[in-house]
Amino acid sequence: MSSPRFDFLSPTRIAWGWGRRSEIGGHAARLGRRVFLLHGSRTLERSGVVEEAAERLQSAGVAVVRLGGTFGEPHVAEVDRLVAEARRHSPQVGDLVCAVGGGSALDAGKAVAGLAVCSQPASVREYLEGVGNGRTIDRPPLPILAVPTTAGTGAEATKNAVVAGREPSFKKSLRDDRLMPTVALVDPELTVSNPPQVTASSGMDAVCQLMESILSRKSQPMPRRLALGALPGLGEALRIAYRDPADRPAREKLAFAALQSGLALANSGLGLAHAAAAALGALLEVPHGLACAVMLPVALKFNAAERPSEMREIAEAFMGRGFSRAESAAAALIDAVRELNRDLGVPDRLGALGVVESAVPQLVQLSAGSSLDGNPRSVTPEELNDLYRSLI
Ligand SMILES: [Fe+2]
Repeated sequence: MSSPRFDFLSPTRIAWGWGRRSEIGGHAARLGRRVFLLHGSRTLERSGVVEEAAERLQSAGVAVVRLGGTFGEPHVAEVDRLVAEARRHSPQVGDLVCAVGGGSALDAGKAVAGLAVCSQPASVREYLEGVGNGRTIDRPPLPILAVPTTAGTGAEATKNAVVAGREPSFKKSLRDDRLMPTVALVDPELTVSNPPQVTASSGMDAVCQLMESILSRKSQPMPRRLALGALPGLGEALRIAYRDPADRPAREKLAFAALQSGLALANSGLGLAHAAAAALGALLEVPHGLACAVMLPVALKFNAAERPSEMREIAEAFMGRGFSRAESAAAALIDAVRELNRDLGVPDRLGALGVVESAVPQLVQLSAGSSLDGNPRSVTPEELNDLYRSLI
């Protein structure tokens, strides 16, 4: 038996805590003298969070170049536009990217940090796994200061940016170890304004990432401990934050779990539920967290026999009780996830999200890729076909 070997990637600094967004200027000033600032949704803009960030950056002596907002999951054209805008300002050493928003905005920020400095301008499509032409980032990316405003994707601690495209539809990753944010500034107070549906879908994304990373065939010891440590009390915190958005302990628990889920997936990979979520998002624009939530019980069931002891560990951590048999642990875990979905208003069928039978062949095709490669049990196209059909 060979002894273990692993690498562990993480942000250089994680600054975590209630109200710590006020420190954004100091963090940026340690990373550079000029910042390309971009942010997520219009709600975020209206809330004053972005303006406050810009002011704090300026008062710390950092020049601010506003790249503006990026709304919804980033598409090729949107990323190309942001990169072109950054390139117009001749990015150089001493510049950094600051992204404030949900996973989509943070991913857009990573793409800008990587592509704005490349020697030749080229569309992000050329760099994407599976659909690109193998082009790679040929110069060191700008440092990234990531400030998440949702609790779920963990994008503040991952090394990839998910980008969507049309004709043909796809959702693929721009991936490079150097796209791991330099600083993740995680202020759980920023998530208090998330509406219940966003809390639910982003929270279920984190739940799914934690469980899939533990089961993954690329699973590593450090992220596994982190992911298991995030599971106790997570379902209850999600229920509380869904009902009472201002509950501070619940918001803190969710933000911490999301961060741990990002570290876990960046180092261990994911699985079937995320592969399906990418396909559902690409073809039918099903929101990522919702797709993960619906797919998770099915993915757990599909993988249960392949990873019995991990399923038991997950069940015990997530449900807070012991199980004498692996089979009963797996069944109880699947029920517990279904019950959590119900309590959060998440449907149990893809049909409720607008998925129709005629879409299944394309969904099967679009599911291939890095997440599916991490799934502990190999999945044939026929099995995928049956899984999708069983959920409509
Ligand atoms: Fe995810």
